[in-house]
Amino acid sequence: MQVNEKDFTFKVSAAGRINIIGEHIDYCGGKVFPAALSLKNTVYVRPNGTNKINLAWTTLPNKVTLDIDDLLSAKSLKYGNYQAGSAYFWKEAGHKVLGCDMIQDCTVPFGSGLSSSAAIEVSTIAALCAIAGEEIDPVEIAKVSQKAEREFAGVNCGIMDQYASACGKKNHAMLLDCKTITCEYVPIDLKDYSFVIINSKKPHALGESKYNERREETELGLEIMKKHVNIDCLAELTLDDFNKYGSELPGKVYDRVKHVVMECGRVHEAEEAMKSGDLVKLGKLLTESHNSLSKLYEVTGVELDTLARLGQEQPSCLGSRMIGGGFGGCTISIVKTSEVEAFKKAVCEEYKKEIGYDAECYSSDIADGIIVEKL
Ligand code: GLA
Repeated sequence: MQVNEKDFTFKVSAAGRINIIGEHIDYCGGKVFPAALSLKNTVYVRPNGTNKINLAWTTLPNKVTLDIDDLLSAKSLKYGNYQAGSAYFWKEAGHKVLGCDMIQDCTVPFGSGLSSSAAIEVSTIAALCAIAGEEIDPVEIAKVSQKAEREFAGVNCGIMDQYASACGKKNHAMLLDCKTITCEYVPIDLKDYSFVIINSKKPHALGESKYNERREETELGLEIMKKHVNIDCLAELTLDDFNKYGSELPGKVYDRVKHVVMECGRVHEAEEAMKSGDLVKLGKLLTESHNSLSKLYEVTGVELDTLARLGQEQPSCLGSRMIGGGFGGCTISIVKTSEVEAFKKAVCEEYKKEIGYDAECYSSDIADGIIVEKL
């Protein structure tokens, strides 16, 4: 469907995200290091004076009508469930949800690990705020969006994606403390290097159930460690205490907790590397993070492992890792800017040879989170 901007009252967008480092530790109270992308979901919205939200998409022929008094019944929709969940929890939180027409235009590729779902949830709520004349509170919107993802999409996710989508800042990464839900903005200055995002195009089937399983394993790990040390979340477990008491952790739970402890350490080192401009160090940390997600946390798979390895093998690349929940989706790599095109070509050609189908490259800037424009 085509959009005629002058038919709408507001144009509201929220960003997709990358995560430089700090994977699978947001739900353990860790610090993570995401940044918002110019790939985003845009909502064109106008009030319609009814108690219905009419949804249409620029990229789909579908049309869906949500009844504001019965949003729960939209939970099982294939398209429209994220919007319904967002509106439902926004209303539950005591906000005004007005009947409206929305056209959704998403440039974040679906299922890519770049948080298209967070971008949809956050932009939908921000659009509801705009037509209700409410002030935008990005942190509250992020928290409510996270609820929508948990309850309507069944992913027991942390706060990283929704926070980054709502609170992102142009040319900055966010050092987000997931325990306190506060962030420090860190300027991204990669000198003559760039981030390159490549999608493995592996459909991430079963990703949700495995994601929830990893969460349960870390929760069990926390419960056991709490018998020995005084901590509230796994991110507070020191390496010393892990070395002392880790043998109490059964089987895979040991590996999962080790990943969390080491990844928290890497985020801290990455913060220093980013602030001091030590890109070689930053690249190494990315590669170490990938190896840990592959071997200890087991959320990669042959496609992501191949893509990260092919990136790491290129002389123009300082490091490469999977991002997001895993089991499919994208890698990010730090690559010499003058070599980016050659890097993409070499990695994609070799990937096709080894995996049998094409990977896909994206170009994106680091951008603001929520943007509201009056039309
Ligand atoms: C998904 C979740 C996030 C986070 C990442 C892994 O993107 O939505 O909360 O847990 O996986 O770091």
